[in-house]
Amino acid sequence: MNLVIIGTGYVGLTTGLGFASLGHRVACVDTDAAKVARLDLGEAPFYEPGLEETLKRLQEQGRIVFTTDLESVIGEADIVMFAVQTPPRANGEAELSYLMGAAGQVGALLSREALLIVKSTVPVGTNRKVLATVRSAMALQGREDLSTLIRVASVPEFLREGAALDDFLHPDRIVVGADDEVVFQTIERLHEGIAAPVVRVRLESSELIKVCANAFLATKISFINEVANIVEGTGADVREVARGIGLDKRIGSQFLRAGIGFGGSCFPKDVSALKSYAGIHGYDFKLLHAVIEVNNTQRHRFVQRIVETMGTLKGRKLAVWGLAFKPDTDDIRESAAIAVVRDLLGLGAEVSAYDPKAMRNARTALPESVHFAPTAMDAASGADALVVLTEWPEFLQVSFSTLKAQMVEPMIFDGRNCFADLGLVALGFQYFGVGLGNAESASSWMRG
Ligand code: UDX
Repeated sequence: MNLVIIGTGYVGLTTGLGFASLGHRVACVDTDAAKVARLDLGEAPFYEPGLEETLKRLQEQGRIVFTTDLESVIGEADIVMFAVQTPPRANGEAELSYLMGAAGQVGALLSREALLIVKSTVPVGTNRKVLATVRSAMALQGREDLSTLIRVASVPEFLREGAALDDFLHPDRIVVGADDEVVFQTIERLHEGIAAPVVRVRLESSELIKVCANAFLATKISFINEVANIVEGTGADVREVARGIGLDKRIGSQFLRAGIGFGGSCFPKDVSALKSYAGIHGYDFKLLHAVIEVNNTQRHRFVQRIVETMGTLKGRKLAVWGLAFKPDTDDIRESAAIAVVRDLLGLGAEVSAYDPKAMRNARTALPESVHFAPTAMDAASGADALVVLTEWPEFLQVSFSTLKAQMVEPMIFDGRNCFADLGLVALGFQYFGVGLGNAESASSWMRG
């Protein structure tokens, strides 16, 4: 099939590459000429494992093209997919102007029957608004008859940054919201080659599934973070609790890693959007208030632990490892790591930070007083303490004896518990995690 995808962000580009790799012909459209020019040269605008190699391969095969000119590609489109940003407004509601603007442009240009797919995360009811916007723009062009043939489907994405291509090709399920059988069949044909159950639902249910999935995952994280806050100093260990409850198939072991909380462009936004949507419909989604409150305070609790241990941070040199909101991405949107660094700076600390991929983005979000170190070990040189905020695998490979020699004080505050099993106490470090039992007993026991 011929796809036109509008938006070349984390969702649009990854989705475009995914469908192109399934054999479809994809044209990705974006208003950002500089971004399109880079993509045309085979350069990815953000880091995602395997993405740039896939981009180059599919371009060489002629399966995917990039353009700013929607008119040049829409004439052949069987499917027009909207993957534009829907960022949160101050009140938590999704900003839909980009999406509706794109829908108007599509309607003004559409001159043949095509299926619209809304991939962006949107409030319930938006798909119908997109369809109405496209149809009315077509009517303005004198194509009212044709406009009645236009259909819409909601096909939300569940891609995780850092695993997006793999998640596209191996989803747990394909959710399709639509009104009629022909649309369901078209979407199933579009996804041929992906072995996953197709869940056929109403349009509105599909829109709600997306935000509810993220809100539930965020709820799991805030739950285990509260458990971590309980067990501090009790001798219990939150990782053991997570393992013990997670083996219950009804609970599941994923998304039970305690730490400084969730970030990213989705969880915070979607939890707020669901709470806001409930409010609009006269319901106070009380659970989500707590999910957000726990997440917002978790990072400050972590900083408080550092202050309680070190006393004043004024003039103290802190090394920070990790700035991205999670490993395997350069994305710092809503990153808890960035929030913690800001807190530390606000308390007078000197920060020397390193992140394998997010340094360029982090420079735009942090003051020049932050020293951006070329390596993790360089960041730790002369540090009074090391603060680990993103669990990049490469941090596990460092020589801890070298690290200890680099630091003024061998003290580590681990916001992601990623060093919890390394027996650092036995190596002479003071080690503090989130919700760990006595690090000594936990590490020696876990080593067996
Ligand atoms: C998420 C959803 O997983 C994905 O399905 C949806 O399409 C987009 O939003 P993403 O935001 O890329 O994906 O990252 P994810 O791996 O879900 O992590 C989100 C945040 O939760 C990160 O800040 C991560 O550090 C945090 N997290 C995750 C935890 O704190 N504990 C966990 O156990 C898991």
